[in-house]
Amino acid sequence: MAVSLSSYLAEKVTLIEKNLLPALEKEGVPPTLYDSMAYSLMAGGKRLRPVLVLAVLEALDKPVERGIPYAVALEMIHTYSLIHDDLPAMDNDDLRRGKPTNHKVFGEATAILAGDALLTRAFGYIADAYLHHPEVSPQTVVKLIAELGKRAGARGMVGGQMADIEGEGRSLTMNELEYIHQHKTGDLLIASLLGGGLLAEASEEQLEALSHYGRCIGLAFQIQDDILNVEGSAELLGKAVGSDADRRKATYPALLGLQASKERLAALIAEAKATLEAAGLGHSALMPLADYVMERKK
Ligand code: IPE
Ligand code: IPE
Ligand code: MG
Ligand code: MG
Repeated sequence: MAVSLSSYLAEKVTLIEKNLLPALEKEGVPPTLYDSMAYSLMAGGKRLRPVLVLAVLEALDKPVERGIPYAVALEMIHTYSLIHDDLPAMDNDDLRRGKPTNHKVFGEATAILAGDALLTRAFGYIADAYLHHPEVSPQTVVKLIAELGKRAGARGMVGGQMADIEGEGRSLTMNELEYIHQHKTGDLLIASLLGGGLLAEASEEQLEALSHYGRCIGLAFQIQDDILNVEGSAELLGKAVGSDADRRKATYPALLGLQASKERLAALIAEAKATLEAAGLGHSALMPLADYVMERKK
């Protein structure tokens, strides 16, 4: 790549962040609810899911603007999932993106409702915003909504969260652990890549490759999340470390040990990159983004 990954990320994150708040409804919304939604949405974060959408469009030589509504919707769903994940009834965390968690600031009831409203707005926003993008066909918009609904819902992220909660304090098989990671984390990353592919009018083969790349980096992303919970810095991460062991969470380091977890992570990233190369996408920012998933410290 001509530019470094950090400047690539900075440029894309700026573009995405500029579009986040305007996507929320304000008029007619109770101010506490709006403030709570805006608080978590604008608290920072890597914005990886939106960046992946834009990177796929670029990889397939399509304008990134086309991906923005979908990218924004993904970030809303991701943010809702974090608000709910941190609740006392779930992971009971006090710190997120370097700030007090939503329920610590606004109370549990408002945090639950802010999550509900971000999730709902995500789908409404896709429908609204693509009305202003005649280059995207109504059929593509329906496919995007279907893909996102599947990946974010009971067969996807929410199902993974359920399995994660039911796995606390139990010893799991490798298959059970992989199910949790693929769904609670992997599915939204796959939705980012496939959504980008649909918007870019990718071929079946390209969609297949993006999906496989997404599966690999999705699992890898959560393995690195688990590793950072053991040996990362709370200051850099902006969230607690050591909490997985405290709650007896099912994690890769707990099941395999740190060394084997790192080897699995590296193998997944190599597989993700090989998949892109084979699909003729080896020139794209998706390549260094795969390395970033493994090398990130936050
Ligand atoms: C954290 O996601 C939750 C997981 C799915 C592992 P990120 O690490 O992408 O969180 P932000 O958006 O950068 O805060
Ligand atoms: C979060 O998983 C996954 C979702 C929010 C869907 P974790 O609970 O492992 O992530 P962190 O460590 O709190 O960010
Ligand atoms: Mg959790
Ligand atoms: Mg958590």
